[in-house]
Amino acid sequence: MKKHQSPSIITLTTTLLLVLLSNLRVEGTRKTYGVADSGSGNNNVKLFVFGDSYVDTENAVHSKAYSWPYGISSYPDHRPTGRNSDGKVFTDYIANYLNMTAPIPNAFRNESNIQNGINFAFGGTGVYDTHIDGPNLTAQINSFEQLIQQKLFTKEDLQNSVVLVNAGANDYSKHFQDRKFFDIPKFISRLVNQLTTELKRFPSLGVGKVLVVLLQPVGCLPLVTFIDFHLVCIDLVNKISESHNKQLNNAIGQLKAETTGTNFVTLDLYKAMLQFLEEMMMKARNGNSSVSNAYWNPLRECCEPNLGHECGDVDDDNNPLYKVCDNPGAAFFWDQAHPSETGWSIIFAILRPSLHQLTQH
Ligand SMILES: *[C@@H]1O[C@H](CO)[C@@H](O)[C@H](O)[C@H]1NC(C)=O
Ligand SMILES: *[C@@H]1O[C@H](CO)[C@@H](O)[C@H](O)[C@H]1NC(C)=O
Ligand SMILES: *[C@@H]1O[C@H](CO)[C@@H](O)[C@H](O)[C@H]1NC(C)=O
Ligand SMILES: *[C@@H]1O[C@H](CO)[C@@H](O)[C@H](O)[C@H]1NC(C)=O
Repeated sequence: MKKHQSPSIITLTTTLLLVLLSNLRVEGTRKTYGVADSGSGNNNVKLFVFGDSYVDTENAVHSKAYSWPYGISSYPDHRPTGRNSDGKVFTDYIANYLNMTAPIPNAFRNESNIQNGINFAFGGTGVYDTHIDGPNLTAQINSFEQLIQQKLFTKEDLQNSVVLVNAGANDYSKHFQDRKFFDIPKFISRLVNQLTTELKRFPSLGVGKVLVVLLQPVGCLPLVTFIDFHLVCIDLVNKISESHNKQLNNAIGQLKAETTGTNFVTLDLYKAMLQFLEEMMMKARNGNSSVSNAYWNPLRECCEPNLGHECGDVDDDNNPLYKVCDNPGAAFFWDQAHPSETGWSIIFAILRPSLHQLTQH
């Protein structure tokens, strides 16, 4: 009898070991990616966010993002939350992927609410100064550096941290507003060099993982396709994004080769947006009626301003100078420059496989 029992005990032990090991692996994953334990505040991973309105969650406190109809789809209050969207922005999806809620905006930071990291991004800003009164990328990273010097984060915190950077579009916007149309190739190189200089600071600061969002297809933004009644993306403008991204990819490739201890991952927002928009436009052209109405023209924004105005503008009697589409949840673009919550969820789904590179070294 005993002899018969031993194998089953071995089997049982092996099974137990396997269970323990698989638990250990989960535990290991937790350590590496800082899945919060059942309570909150035990999260190992922190998210630090830098750049502009695509990732700012609340810092630009005087912006349109704090006025109606921004936040119209946001849960649960349907009120503006300081995000340039009808609901969530990209940061919310990245934070969710990291199993946390979005880190506290720098404007509202105190000693006890930084366990998920800090969002330094500021709507309207760029790598260089723009027409907006807000911290440029250098200044945002300086603020981060100061907090590190004040020892708010441990070396281990930083090594486990994820940095998210989305910047550049507002620099081009300013460049065009200043009517400097002729030296674009030179400006692209200068901008990518400056951005690369800033990215190099993260390895020096001890940050383990850096997510760099490539430039969106600027020629597809409603504020640009406005000139052709949102019929097609303006290729000539998209060429700028392409050139920018090509140079930035090269620079990051070089950075990866030169650095150890920091994992740089690029997220191709250009490809993600263009892929979806082209697919939708093709369906519209083919008259595929199974596609919902709002998608018939994916290049048209949901919150459409009157001529010469912006989404959120009101007249002296508080009457809106814009129109909101019937179903914001079916629009890809929320306003003239920003994807809707739905838009971001689509973009995130396309980019999600790239995020797995965060775990590879
Ligand atoms: C988030 O949590 C889920 C469920 O516990 C887990 O499967 C996943 O690996 C976690 N994601 C990260 C990036 O840690
Ligand atoms: C820190 O901010 C949070 C809100 O984010 C607030 O609930 C809390 O009372 C603040 N703590 C201190 C010490 O000011
Ligand atoms: C960013 O802003 C700081 C402080 O306002 C300024 O000193 C610096 O020159 C700016 N950096 C760039 C790259 O424009
Ligand atoms: C219409 O779109 C649906 C859903 O995307 C797809 O399954 C179907 O094949 C399309 N039909 C045509 C005629 O393109």
